Amino acid sequence: MKFMRTIMITGGAGFIGSHVVRRFVRNYPDYRIINLDKLTYAGNLANLKDVEDCPNYKFVKADICDFDKLLSVIRDEKVDGIIHLAAESHVDRSIKDPFTFARTNVMGTLSLLQAAKAVWEPLGYKNCLFYHISTDEVYGALELTHPEGIEPPFSTKASSEQHKAYGDKFFTEDLKYMPHSPYSASKASSDHFVRAFHDTYGMPVIVTNCSNNYGPYQFPEKLIPLFVNNIRHRKPLPVYGRGENVRDWLYVEDHARAIDLIFHKGEVAETYNIGGFNEWKNIDIVKTLIRVTDRLLGRAEGEDMDLITYVTDRAGHDLRYAIDSSKLQRELGWEPSLQFEEGIEKTVKWYLENGEWLDQVTSGEYLKYYENMYGGR
Ligand code: NAD
Ligand code: DAU
Repeated sequence: MKFMRTIMITGGAGFIGSHVVRRFVRNYPDYRIINLDKLTYAGNLANLKDVEDCPNYKFVKADICDFDKLLSVIRDEKVDGIIHLAAESHVDRSIKDPFTFARTNVMGTLSLLQAAKAVWEPLGYKNCLFYHISTDEVYGALELTHPEGIEPPFSTKASSEQHKAYGDKFFTEDLKYMPHSPYSASKASSDHFVRAFHDTYGMPVIVTNCSNNYGPYQFPEKLIPLFVNNIRHRKPLPVYGRGENVRDWLYVEDHARAIDLIFHKGEVAETYNIGGFNEWKNIDIVKTLIRVTDRLLGRAEGEDMDLITYVTDRAGHDLRYAIDSSKLQRELGWEPSLQFEEGIEKTVKWYLENGEWLDQVTSGEYLKYYENMYGGR
């Protein structure tokens, strides 16, 4: 079959990447989708079981730091679009091991840019696009400046407008980068390289910066799946500091839909912020998770509140993230489709119904799963 386009999605075996791969494989049968992933601890091909046999899907096990391999895949497969998600993504790991983050997120992104340039430059970059997926954490941390008595959650648009009227700050696309963690510093650096390849070599690029995602297939080291799994097993819930930090949550399929829209309709060289205007204090999320999980498990709602355990704060813990995604809404008409209450119910339900997935990931069983097929990890 002749395909209209060949799109390489890096990091497609991870959390967000698997939703993006699934969406593109299903929605665009006339595109060939290549999922290039190293399968680190965070990569799990079981996340893509439902699309792995589709004729327009191909998996390539490779490290984004391996320039020669990238070059041969982009050249031989005639890749004309890259959606780059592969990264080390967990802040706590970056605090313990910053080198791995610099290697993958900075050097890996640079290798990918160089390989794309080597193939695309002689073609005059015709119909080519390098789309880089980044994070709101590059902007640093915001203050909690809203007046006393007005507290998150701000989970509706009306309240976010009210919030803005009080003079509260949001992350907008024109803000200066102020990363604090080794993770966000490495992502900031990769964003700069991507833009530099546009400005220096004329490569068509787009960068998007998104807020915290939640939903199915997230690795249970991140707040929501970790805590649902712990509630399930009645294990302590380690809340950093006093649980006062604020994050802005977006359902992962809404992010994948934004990526699809921007890949097809976004302006080259532009940056778009993606977020749901949905700020929550960690402690309120944790209490919501306990109530929903208890109810879905048939326990008395809230009976597991005593699992909350306040622990030493994360080093350099950013106080508040809040994305202003109005540019994306205004220019491309994107809006989040799910209210948080609905999304969290759906998410908890998914983890409880997919206990086997959680068990395989937490036991390490999944690491053996594809060992014979792809030569191990
Ligand atoms: P994840 O950790 O779940 O998945 C990362 C994937 O990248 C895994 O499949 C892993 O195997 C792969 N990978 C890691 N190093 C690699 C390498 N050297 N070569 C090839 N593949 C490699 O991450 P995620 O949460 O899905 O995040 C995906 C992207 O989105 C990242 O770039 C992240 O910075 C960004 N992002 C994440 C969030 C969020 O809330 N999770 C929000 C905004 C932006
Ligand atoms: O904002 C986007 C970012 O969101 C992404 O770029 C990152 O890849 C992604 O990991 C996420 O970063 P966070 O650090 O915000 O996510 P995490 O789930 O690790 O933590 C969410 C909040 O919960 C944060 O304030 C720290 C807190 N926390 C987290 C864990 C794992 C706890 O209190 N206890 C925990 O055990």
